[in-house]
Amino acid sequence: MDIAFAEPGLPASGTLIITVSQDRTLGPAGLEIDRSLGGAVGRAMAASRFTGKKDEVLELLAPAGLTLTRLLLVGLGKPEPLTDTSLEAVGGTAAAFLNRTGETEAWLRLDLPAESALPADQAAAAAAVGAQLRGYRFDRYRTTEKPEQKPSLVRLTVQVADPAAAERLFAGNGPLLAGVSLARDLISEPANRLTPVAFADRCTGLAEFGLEVAVLDQARMAGLGMGALLGVAQGSAQPPRLVTLSWRGAPAAADSRPVVLVGKGVTFDSGGISIKPAAGMEDMKWDMAGAAVVAGVMRVLAGRKARVNVVGVLGLVENMPSGTAQRPGDVVVSASGKTIEVINTDAEGRLVLADALWYAQETFKPRVLIDLATLTGAVIIALGHEHAGLFATEDSLAEQLLGAGRKVGEPLWRLPMGESYDKDLNSDIADVKNVGSGRAGGSILGAQFLKRFVGEVPWAHLDIAGVAWAKKDSATVPKGGTGFGVRLLDRFLADTAEG
Ligand code: BES
Ligand code: MN
Ligand code: ZN
Repeated sequence: MDIAFAEPGLPASGTLIITVSQDRTLGPAGLEIDRSLGGAVGRAMAASRFTGKKDEVLELLAPAGLTLTRLLLVGLGKPEPLTDTSLEAVGGTAAAFLNRTGETEAWLRLDLPAESALPADQAAAAAAVGAQLRGYRFDRYRTTEKPEQKPSLVRLTVQVADPAAAERLFAGNGPLLAGVSLARDLISEPANRLTPVAFADRCTGLAEFGLEVAVLDQARMAGLGMGALLGVAQGSAQPPRLVTLSWRGAPAAADSRPVVLVGKGVTFDSGGISIKPAAGMEDMKWDMAGAAVVAGVMRVLAGRKARVNVVGVLGLVENMPSGTAQRPGDVVVSASGKTIEVINTDAEGRLVLADALWYAQETFKPRVLIDLATLTGAVIIALGHEHAGLFATEDSLAEQLLGAGRKVGEPLWRLPMGESYDKDLNSDIADVKNVGSGRAGGSILGAQFLKRFVGEVPWAHLDIAGVAWAKKDSATVPKGGTGFGVRLLDRFLADTAEG
């Protein structure tokens, strides 16, 4: 779908979309169209349950007296406060609706309340961003789809008083959209296609955007003593990789120590010898979402030439049961030197991250360390699919991440940590065991385990198991891999770390 911007006007064909605020409140443009149609817009709303709430749409086909194919009313919700997120939702909802109708051309009139605090060009760009985000589709393996089953919208033109200004703002979001799409592509890719080696190859391709890419193979990792990561990989026919993506954009005077982002990249998590039940196991193709999101963020930073130094570290392995797989009860020696008793081979993400986090700290001496991982099913029990779990060693870091998440509509919820939880990880024969004694506080125990491999650096852990994959569409996120975390971390870096 192409996006364009133009001055307001009544199009001669296609669909005209207008926004309606809560309680069926039309804006100036809506009122004018309603008048010219003899009150048909008001009558149509009154005849339906459409009230202008967020996510609502009302379609008026072939409106008499106009040459348009349809008028589409889209709910804006409460007019105050009007945020980027509410306009993204309008763009996304309208685009998704029209894509199912066969319509090819549409014009979106943002009929905002006059007193709105959000500048019109920013609102227009946000609506376009929302349409693009929702328009994402992973269709590389659909070969027999009929044209009438495909999304139909070819062009969406957003009407705004200063189209050039809106266009500039929208173009500035190009790298962000590319980063989110990259993350979603990787997440949705099946595990036979996206092995650790294939994932690393995709990362190598990111050099074209100015990222420095380094790939460690199994022998290099063995040389570094990464027994925890390699223990997970040893049951699989697919060899592991550790990828680093570096972006150096900090101006000379600024802090040159990088922010380091670490991602769990388990390309398939069968559970290993502690094998998972068959039902739903296909979901474990997206157990590499943390690594995908880190790759997506790095793509954004390079694309927009961010004024900050950031390194992404991706631990890529497949967790399989086999004659060579690690056993429950095995003890592995991590790169940090700490020994780990592997009680449950399905708590593999933390083993991968133990070595990736150690490597990140030793190699890059970060000023801030943040990891993303689909680490625990327990975080879904705690927070559902609406918030990701946040753990942080410092309140200020937690606040910054919480704030960034709220702004971009990728909300986090902070969970506690502490000594009293940590003791449950003490092993009888090694330095630490990889699970606690029961199911209580499963996400917290996962975070406590990771913390054993984190030194003095300010550190945050995002457990994204509940938000990495969507089973149903929402306004700006089609079902499938969500890319949750790309926008959040991009905003966090822009707001707190750029020189
Ligand atoms: N990848 C899973 C966590 C997960 C579950 C992600 C559901 C997305 C959806 C992780 O490796 C895992 O298996 N965790 C175990 C930990 C347990 C053995 C302590 C879990 O959550 O059951
Ligand atoms: Mn697992
Ligand atoms: Zn896993």
